[in-house]
Amino acid sequence: GTLRKSGDKEHTGEGVKRIKVQGRVQRVAKQGGLIFVWLRRGMAIMQCVLAGDLAKTYDALVLVRETSMEIVGELWELPAGTHAPLNRELHADFFRIIAAAPGGDDAFVTRVPNDFDTTSSQASEALLNLRHLTLRHDKPAAVMFVRSVLEGAFHTAYRELAVTKVSPPALVQTQVEGGSTLFSLDYYGEPAYLTQSSQLYLETCLPSLGDVYCVEKSFRAEKSLTRRHLSEYTHVEAELDFIPFESLLDHIESIICRVVDLTLADPIAAKIIKEYNPDFERPSQPFMRMRYSDAIDWLRAKDIKNEEGNDHTFGDDIAEAAERRMTDEINRPIMLTHFPAGIKAFYMQRASDDDRVTESVDVLMPGVGEIVGGSMRIWDHDQLLAAYKREGLDPAPYYWYTDQRKYGGSPHGGYGLGLERLIVWLLKLWTVREACLYPRYMGRCRP
Ligand code: 4AD
Ligand code: MG
Repeated sequence: GTLRKSGDKEHTGEGVKRIKVQGRVQRVAKQGGLIFVWLRRGMAIMQCVLAGDLAKTYDALVLVRETSMEIVGELWELPAGTHAPLNRELHADFFRIIAAAPGGDDAFVTRVPNDFDTTSSQASEALLNLRHLTLRHDKPAAVMFVRSVLEGAFHTAYRELAVTKVSPPALVQTQVEGGSTLFSLDYYGEPAYLTQSSQLYLETCLPSLGDVYCVEKSFRAEKSLTRRHLSEYTHVEAELDFIPFESLLDHIESIICRVVDLTLADPIAAKIIKEYNPDFERPSQPFMRMRYSDAIDWLRAKDIKNEEGNDHTFGDDIAEAAERRMTDEINRPIMLTHFPAGIKAFYMQRASDDDRVTESVDVLMPGVGEIVGGSMRIWDHDQLLAAYKREGLDPAPYYWYTDQRKYGGSPHGGYGLGLERLIVWLLKLWTVREACLYPRYMGRCRP
C-alpha cells in the first residue's frame, strides 16, 4: 500500500536496507497482531514493528520500559506525517533481549515520575534523588545535549578570536570572591580551598600566551537556596590583555551572540530551544548599557525597594529580587557597569572619571538576571597592595598574583560567565539545577 521499502543502495549494496539496532525500550504498544516498540539509543528513537510469529512467541510484558534489546530487520520509509520518528520504521525479523528491566513495583515507569517539577521543592528533591534515572527522560537529556553544543560553541568562538584555552587548578590557597563562600579543606596539613574562580590564574597567563580562557568548575559555599545558585558550577572565564574597558564590554556581548548563533546553527539544539523556549530571540547588539548609578535611579523611580525594604541608595547591592524585576521589565540583555568599589571584589580597577566606582560589568538576562561578572583589574603594584589591605587579605599567599604587577603590568580585564545560568536563559528553565548533570547545592551532594 502506502509503505515502501527504503531503496538506499549506498548503505547495503542491495535494494533493501537490513539493519541491526540496539537500545532500550522507550514505549510499547500492541495494535492488532503487531507490537510497536520505540527503541531508544541515546536521544535517537527507532520505531520497530514486530509482526507475525515475533509478535506471538514473545510476550509484550518482557518488553517493559528500559529493557535493553537488539532488533534486526528491514528499514522502511513511511510517508510523511506518521508518528514514527523521522518517518522510519524497522520491520523486525529477529530480536533478542539483552537485559530485561523489572516490571511491577520496581518498574521504571512506577519508580520514576515523568515530570521535572522543579517549582515544588519537595517534588524536585524526590526527582533529584532519582536524577540518575530521570536523566533518561526527554527534557533532561535535551538540556544536556544543548549544554554540550553550547560548550563546543564557546571553544569555537574563542578559537575564532585566537584566545587560548588553559586549565587552571581547582585546589588553591587564595580567595577571589570573598571569604564567605569559600569551601575550605585540609591539604596535607595546609589550609586550602576549592577555587571560586580561575581569574587570578588566567591573569598570570597573559604575558606568555596572550588572551586566554578556561571552562572549569568553580565552587561557592552559597548558604542559601535560590533558583540560580549552585555550590559547584561551570565557569567560562576569559582574560584579555592590553585592552580598555569599552573593548571588554564589546568582547563580552559579541562572545554571547556568537555562542548563541553557533548553538542555533546546530539543527538538533535549535529544535530543542524552539521546543522549550518558543519565544527565544537572538539578542541584538549592542546590548543596553546602564551605569550602576542609573540603575539605582531606575529602581527608585519604579519604587522597587532594597533588601531592607528601603529605597535603593548609592552603595547598595542590587539583590536578586530587584535585579529580576529590572530584567523582566526591560526584557532585554543589560550590561550594568561601574559598580561602587565597596560592593565589588578587591582586584577591580577604579574608573578614571569617578574614583568611587570600578570598571566593572554584570550582564543581566531576562528570566535569570546576572549571567556574567567582569571587570578591568588593578594593574599597579602599590594599588594592589593597598587593595589587599582594604579587604583584610594577607598578601603572602598572593605573591604570585602580585608578581604580575612587577614584571610588565598592563591594562587588562576579563569576566566569568555561569554556564548553567546561560542555559536557564536559553531554554527558559526554572532553575540552574535543571542545567546540571548532577546539581550540587546546599544540602545536596548526591547522586
Ligand atoms: O560574578 P562572579 O562572582 O565573578 C567572578 O567570579 C569573577 N572572578 C569572574 C572573572 O572575572 N573571571 O561570578 C561570575 C559568574 C556570575 O555572573 C554567575 O553567572 C556565575 O559566575 N556564578 C554562579 N553560578 C551558579 N551558582 C553560583 N553560586 C554562582 N556564583 C557565580
Ligand atoms: Mg557577580
